[in-house]
Amino acid sequence: DALRRVFSGIQPTGTPHLGNYLGAIESWVSLQSEPGSVLYSIVDLHSITVPQDPAVLRQSILDMTAALLACGIDPERSILFRQSQVAEHTQLSWILTCMVRLPRLQHLHQWKAKSAQQKHDGTVGLLTYPVLQAADVLLYKSTHVPVGEDQVQHMELVQDLARGFNKKYGEFFPVPKSILTSMKKVKSLRDPSAKMSKSDPDRLATVRITDSPEEIVQKFRKAVTDFTSEVTYDPARREGVSNLVAIHSAVTGLPVEEVVRQSAGLDTARYKLLVADAVIEKFAPIKSEIEKLKMDKDHLEKVLEAGSARAKELAYPVCQEVKKLVGF
Ligand code: ADP
Ligand code: NA
Repeated sequence: DALRRVFSGIQPTGTPHLGNYLGAIESWVSLQSEPGSVLYSIVDLHSITVPQDPAVLRQSILDMTAALLACGIDPERSILFRQSQVAEHTQLSWILTCMVRLPRLQHLHQWKAKSAQQKHDGTVGLLTYPVLQAADVLLYKSTHVPVGEDQVQHMELVQDLARGFNKKYGEFFPVPKSILTSMKKVKSLRDPSAKMSKSDPDRLATVRITDSPEEIVQKFRKAVTDFTSEVTYDPARREGVSNLVAIHSAVTGLPVEEVVRQSAGLDTARYKLLVADAVIEKFAPIKSEIEKLKMDKDHLEKVLEAGSARAKELAYPVCQEVKKLVGF
């Protein structure tokens, strides 16, 4: 299908973590071999919804680029670009912002969680960033969006905005579908009722692709489980252990039942080390590729520039049409 278009984005705040990898990047890599065009954006505009140091942000963008390439994102088969280099994202975002009512955004659970993290003093940007996300997707008339479960509510907003725009101005945007990965949500190692996140202030909660083997062991060792020492999979009643089993299953590619069977007789303390080993093994080749890529900053910048130019070519005419429809 020539009209199939995949879009997804990732914030350049630090290197990706297990949740990003299993919930997004792994499927981004495999989607590259399907027909239609595929766009992956480093959504740097989104990252300033919380305070950023400019020098750190600049470096993080390159680090994320290196990480995505190392994971298997191939700029020959997908368009890898920087959101801030395609001005149409903010133009469309403004138009969509004028179509959303305030309570709709105030009810989104990520706003509630993240603004609580900011002591309920979050910026307007933090509140409205799901609208920018909608613009990211719709700007390319995307049909499919691979995301983790944490983004389902935001995807509903994207779909509603597409429908709302079409109703007001005539059929224009396809209503994009989410592609949910099998690893829908990786939980925080320290608080398994929350998702693993780049912005978690507890350093031990988030396992990054670039962590050293020692750090990975330490983080799994400190993972919160419960008072039962046996390894079972029961996400409703045993969130912590079940998160470990799910991670183990995802990184080894074995079904959940099989990893549980293989861990019969282990207590959770020993099981944590087994999972840590599986994660270390999975990330080792990616980690060394990242280190190699990070030495060539010019190359990383060129990849992003070329990708951004290609994205711009697609975005410009869509934005022009939108403006015409709106009456500009
Ligand atoms: P973060 O919330 O950690 O800053 P991003 O917002 O940059 O991550 O999300 C990038 C992608 O990773 C999105 O598709 C999102 O659904 C996915 N993702 C993020 N955290 C998790 C998680 N804990 N489990 C599964 N997928 C996740
Ligand atoms: Na996020």
